[in-house]
Amino acid sequence: MLNPDLHRLKPYPFEQLAALFADAKTPDDLKPIPLSIGEPQHTPPQFVLDALVEHMGLIAKYPTTRGTDSLRQSIGTWLNRRFSLENDPLNPDTNVIPVNGTREAIFAAVQAAVDRRAGGTVVIPNPFYQIYEGAAFMAGLSPHYLPITESGQPDYHAVPDAVWKDCQFCFICTPGNPTGTVIDEATLAMLIEKAHQFDFWLASDECYSEIYRDTPPAGLLEVCATTGNTEFKKCLVFHSLSKRSNLPGLRSGFVAGDADFIAPFLKYRTYHGCSMSMAVQKASELAWADEAHVIENRALYTRKFKQAAEILGDRMNTSDPGAGFYLWAKTPMACDTFSRELYEATGVTVLPGQYLGREVNGINPGAGFVRMALVAEPDTCREALERIQSFITG
Ligand SMILES: Cc1ncc(COP(=O)(O)O)c(C=O)c1O
Repeated sequence: MLNPDLHRLKPYPFEQLAALFADAKTPDDLKPIPLSIGEPQHTPPQFVLDALVEHMGLIAKYPTTRGTDSLRQSIGTWLNRRFSLENDPLNPDTNVIPVNGTREAIFAAVQAAVDRRAGGTVVIPNPFYQIYEGAAFMAGLSPHYLPITESGQPDYHAVPDAVWKDCQFCFICTPGNPTGTVIDEATLAMLIEKAHQFDFWLASDECYSEIYRDTPPAGLLEVCATTGNTEFKKCLVFHSLSKRSNLPGLRSGFVAGDADFIAPFLKYRTYHGCSMSMAVQKASELAWADEAHVIENRALYTRKFKQAAEILGDRMNTSDPGAGFYLWAKTPMACDTFSRELYEATGVTVLPGQYLGREVNGINPGAGFVRMALVAEPDTCREALERIQSFITG
């Protein structure tokens, strides 16, 4: 016997991609370039690597689940500064828990937050980061998919109250994966109101928040503060060093927000046994305290999005979404066919949008698009974009 909810978990998009490319051949003279996986390829900050080595001896100690005071302080200071919370600063002791990358925390949070006996839904965008859906399944609830519109985000203002009534937990993703678009402050304020009115948890996945071109995207906690919800009631945010600091292998992020969630979640996590190794805590503390490397990192992405605009123009409807590191491009044929033909002709891998979405009422809002992750170094990205450009212009 197994937990029957396990059977509800869907294959990950990359398994589907591997099946699509199973017998595909790429040109012998072209080095394959993957734009399919959102794994940053820029160099991680040396001072973080040095801190890991320096503190490796701490591996001899059991870490606590709540993390060291100094790590939570460093995270709190960053949050207060980045999201202008200084007037009513967040309390690192009651509002923050470090996590081993946001993936595990996003998955676990739903199980800790919802009442499976009450039924109902986890509201998620469609297409989406697949962990939201799996988290809903394993918490014994059903996902309710909100299709993205041309804007790259769901039209949250058009969601009927009946949907919010059934909702126990709502994930938003800003800047979004796969589209890179940002949810504006008025919409965040409206969502906070709905979370209070209909008593659901509003969780904002902000792991791309530090990758933007001109304007820093607003965060959910910031809008809590400006709307008078200074204790962040019903609200949670997830942040990560993976994209901000090019440290996807460090497995380091945090969840922050409503103390009424943070305290029981800490208890849950103590049982779950997912405390962060001390060397990782030391390295993370330094990473959150430094902005210079983040500014440099952002500049590299800005350069790559400029390149993309020069090379692709408005072909495939790709304009810079202003944040994140994805181009969400319209395909001139079925997106899986496009991905396979592109791969066979150029060795460039892109991810069919339909793998990131679900069909609801006969429509998969991810179909007809591909996601291109501009994660490689600028010269490699340029080469990939030039190959795509010559493929689509024939
Ligand atoms: C939208 C989104 N959320 C969360 C994550 C998880 O990131 P990590 O677990 O590395 O913090 C990712 C990673 O790709 C992502 O795209």
